[in-house]
Amino acid sequence: MARLVVVSNRVPVPSAKGGTAAAGGLAVALEAALRSHGGLWFGWSGKTSTDREIEWLEIRDFGNVTYAVADLNRRDVDEYYTGFANRALWPLCHYRLDLTDFSRKDMAGYFRVNRSFARLLAPLIRPDDLVWVHDYHLIPLAAELRHMGVKNRIGYFHHIPWPPADVLSTLPVADTIMRGLAAYDLVGFQTSYDVENFTGCMVREGFGRALGNGWFESYGHRFQAGAFPIGIDTESFVEMAVEGAKNPIVKRTRESLHDCDLVIGVDRLDYSKGIGQRIEAFSRFCEMSPSAKGQVTLLQITPKSRSDVPEYATMQRDVAELTGRVNGALGDVDWTPIRYVNKTMNRNALAGLYRIAKAGLVTPLRDGMNLVAKEYIAAQDPNDPGVLVLSRFAGAARELDGALIVNPYDIEATANAIGRAISMPVEARRERFQSMFPKIRDHDVSWWCRTFLDALSQDESAIPT
Ligand code: F6P
Repeated sequence: MARLVVVSNRVPVPSAKGGTAAAGGLAVALEAALRSHGGLWFGWSGKTSTDREIEWLEIRDFGNVTYAVADLNRRDVDEYYTGFANRALWPLCHYRLDLTDFSRKDMAGYFRVNRSFARLLAPLIRPDDLVWVHDYHLIPLAAELRHMGVKNRIGYFHHIPWPPADVLSTLPVADTIMRGLAAYDLVGFQTSYDVENFTGCMVREGFGRALGNGWFESYGHRFQAGAFPIGIDTESFVEMAVEGAKNPIVKRTRESLHDCDLVIGVDRLDYSKGIGQRIEAFSRFCEMSPSAKGQVTLLQITPKSRSDVPEYATMQRDVAELTGRVNGALGDVDWTPIRYVNKTMNRNALAGLYRIAKAGLVTPLRDGMNLVAKEYIAAQDPNDPGVLVLSRFAGAARELDGALIVNPYDIEATANAIGRAISMPVEARRERFQSMFPKIRDHDVSWWCRTFLDALSQDESAIPT
């Protein structure tokens, strides 16, 4: 079996005492894949060094997995991460042209950091390694590695949405980004919609031609693109939710609610998540249903994120103000309609909170997949499950058709869906749960890793003639 090299912007390096840092399902799955293949995990340490150029790697072995991470200096973080990745590619891929900032300085920083990463990584790659690069921070990495003579099979997975051609073509370096993707052997997206958009960008904008069966020829290289919908570690999340219901935080929450029904939303504080629209919809639901007063509470758990990006700082203020306004207008001395929490919750407590919530609101304006939707379903009691209210613009909506699918821009309709979810009879809830659970059980994160790596291991003999 080939050794696996995983590359991602952030790397969950285990602590020196041997404890694991991989809290999220994706990190756990990648770690498991690395252990079974033997491997290397390479990326940014997450630390900002004051002055150094990237030329130095910290390398640590844990069992048969090696972690190799580099610090970035302030300028690199500002231009590569905060700048181009999160003020150009992120809003662009989430269809938010109004929020893009195409600074030339940031673009140069993004390509410079990718080149530096490639310089550090290339000497660590052995001839038979399979290299798997993750996410929009690192699109140019394969092209840089190819320049340095790396001939290995290299795959890329895009965790966020891929935009249509008209949106992509606003990016001044769209051609370099497309050329970057064409340097991979396999490019994976979350859904067939993303693959369609990518095909449109490739063919309509003249960057390459489609050969059929997901194969493309572009800039003199043949590669394949396909949909590989990511899953969660379903089995362990189910166990965690059963255990989590006994977690002290969950018990305290339940007690503090008295007889109120709990509705839950969990998202990083990000404008793509539609948190403002969701709060408006919940507020509308409370206004429309007199019986909701004092009987339903929305718990919105929203850890702060990317606070150095100005658009995130603005949003932080806007959501806090909106929540305060709604609570002030609708709340009472003994009822707070929205409990808004800006901190990271441990996963055990989170799983337990999902389990006791009558409805889960996952209403992003645009999302690659959204694993909270899958986790909410996995956490339910099959005999008395809650109802998922899910945005049609989340990749998860392609699979979770037992959810109440909403257009999050339509506040009235989302408010109605919240009302339907809260009052749905148990038979209908069970039926919806049973239509979704087998999908997330069978297509879990290990299945995702396996299918991607199997496809990446295939050679060019699969190209249609
Ligand atoms: O989903 C995209 C993503 O960049 C993930 O890779 C990451 O875990 C998450 O968003 C959080 O982003 P950041 O690393 O910028 O905090």
